[in-house]
Amino acid sequence: MYICICKAVTDGQIRSAVQDGVTSMSGLRESLGCTGQCGKCGKHVKQIRDEVLQGPGASSGGSAFTGSSAG
Ligand code: FES
Repeated sequence: MYICICKAVTDGQIRSAVQDGVTSMSGLRESLGCTGQCGKCGKHVKQIRDEVLQGPGASSGGSAFTGSSAG
């Protein structure tokens, strides 16, 4: 899904950039170009970055509970 319309940047591109160590908004702007034009994508870019930094399971459903049954 396109997050930044101006620069045609997808959420996948943002995620992989953050995983590669680009964790600042200015770094993302420099490497992907997002937020550099109209800036409307800023809050979405930040949200995606925060999701990646928090790691899987930090928010939004999905039970990671693993139980073992003795038997
Ligand atoms: S939508 Fe990203 S800078 Fe305009």
